[in-house]
Amino acid sequence: MGNLNTLFENNKNWSQQIQLDDPQFFTRLANQQNPKYLWIGCSDSRVPANELVGLMPGEVFVHRNVANLVNHTDFNCLSVIQYAIEALKIEEIIVCGHYRCGGIHEAMENSCKGLVNNWLRHVQDIEFLHKSFLESVDDQTEKYDRLCELNIIEQVRNVCRTTPAGSAWDEEKSLTVHGWIYNLSNGLLHDLGVSVSGKEEIMPVTDRGIEAVYARKERFHG
Ligand code: CO
Repeated sequence: MGNLNTLFENNKNWSQQIQLDDPQFFTRLANQQNPKYLWIGCSDSRVPANELVGLMPGEVFVHRNVANLVNHTDFNCLSVIQYAIEALKIEEIIVCGHYRCGGIHEAMENSCKGLVNNWLRHVQDIEFLHKSFLESVDDQTEKYDRLCELNIIEQVRNVCRTTPAGSAWDEEKSLTVHGWIYNLSNGLLHDLGVSVSGKEEIMPVTDRGIEAVYARKERFHG
């Protein structure tokens, strides 16, 4: 427990600092949250949602899991999406993955063990879906980078096909789902250009995104 005391000290300092800048900050926030964005990201400690887009508490609704996956039987993630759209009236959903994602690597190397193996099977399904392309990439780093990108685009598709997203579009509510990737090496985000704003856009927009990934030759890490 000794080491955790530092966290409480940090917390006290953080709270004081925020109130110095804005004395009403916590009172205001305690009454209502009004985030404009839903962030679906990886649990990786190096990819903190708020910090890397410079947002304060109250400004981004967050769901994170290993390898930023959106599965149609994951009621945790689905509930977050529903709450974001229906209760918080969020109109922008960001699926943000990152290069050097450990989950993607484990799936690619087939080296994951135990329970997490089952979770990462979803990534292996994506690998299988893009098998011929991935087999054509000789460089392992490039292959790893491409799979990180493809995973994000597939998760954008998954978000778009959830019932809450479908209902929002049926009701002609404004809703856009984006796919971004974060580069650990320079702290920068890159938009994969797969922003979907309606049911009819899902396949054409994400297909174009996948073609762009297939054509990409860059290596983003190493
Ligand atoms: Co990760």
